[in-house]
Amino acid sequence: MKILAIESSCDETAAAVVEDGRKILSSVINSQVEEHRLYGGVVPEIASRRHVENIVQVVQKALDDAGCTLDGIDKIAVTAAPGLIGALLVGVNYAKGLALASGKPLIPVHHIRGHIAANYLADPDLKPPFLCLVASGGHSHIVEVRDYTDLHIIGRTRDDAAGEAFDKAARAMGFSYPGGIYIDRAAQEAAPDDLKKYRLPKPRVEGSEYDFSFSGLKTAVINLLHNAQQKGETVDTKALAACFQKTVCEVLVGHLELAAQRLGYRSIAAAGGVSANSGLREGLAQMCRKNKFDLHIPPLSLCGDNAAMIGAQAYYEQLVFPGAGWDLNAAASMSIEAAF
Ligand code: KG4
Ligand code: ZN
Repeated sequence: MKILAIESSCDETAAAVVEDGRKILSSVINSQVEEHRLYGGVVPEIASRRHVENIVQVVQKALDDAGCTLDGIDKIAVTAAPGLIGALLVGVNYAKGLALASGKPLIPVHHIRGHIAANYLADPDLKPPFLCLVASGGHSHIVEVRDYTDLHIIGRTRDDAAGEAFDKAARAMGFSYPGGIYIDRAAQEAAPDDLKKYRLPKPRVEGSEYDFSFSGLKTAVINLLHNAQQKGETVDTKALAACFQKTVCEVLVGHLELAAQRLGYRSIAAAGGVSANSGLREGLAQMCRKNKFDLHIPPLSLCGDNAAMIGAQAYYEQLVFPGAGWDLNAAASMSIEAAF
């Protein structure tokens, strides 16, 4: 089955053609990041406008690259939640128009379920159940993937998501948006001894061993930089980036390890933009080696937002759900556990 998938939940206009949930026939991503960088973050109205301008060409290119026309497509999938509402509405309405005009079924997909499904594209043999760490710009979850469409959150962030903390700390360090990758690069250039240079608090959440809290850590970085500035001291940005990244990764990996041990999962996955982080990838690899767990992490090309992951998840959604009616709406927030 060939699914044409559309993703427009944030600042990437993306379309892809995916076969049977596992094979990418094409994947086109038009990123607006350079424009949003000027403002230090995604400007929702600009994002919506750029999606409107780009979506027709992006979808056409995805069809061309896959060597097919709309006639060769079986179903149309679209990210319908969560995300920036104006941005989502562009994709949802365009997908709805395509589905109506072509008479094809419409499959709504949850963006974070899509991130998890990127692992099905990376490893054609991966099957639920597995335990997945989701770390993106808006979400930090530990998710039991009991089945393709049966997901259960056991740990979540109480405040900032991991990617959000990376981006805010990076901004304070003087990096441009989105700063996660700059912290990653700076941390890679730090010397091993630099990890002892700055003491940062390791966030804990009272009463929940699996939940995360990153805002205190982010604030500690911001305060450290302000104090140094006031005293006229220079901060070793590479060392600070390395200390911050190490702390975030230890918390993410530590909670995931505990959850896997307690719940008996031996198959582990990671998903979302932050799973591109080199420290996190290394930390997960070490933890899984130690525990003899199988580890699945998408290649860097599938960690960030893309439509192929939406096409992968859509395949499994349409096996169990009838598809959307013409009244399908977008939602800015929605639990990964809920069905459309
Ligand atoms: O999953 P994603 O592309 O979009 C959302 O659904 O939010 O995640 C974007 C987030 C941003 O916060 C970005 O800074 C972060 O992923 N990110 C990274 C790295 N690459 C992207 N964070 C740390 N290290 C990286 N290498
Ligand atoms: Zn995303």
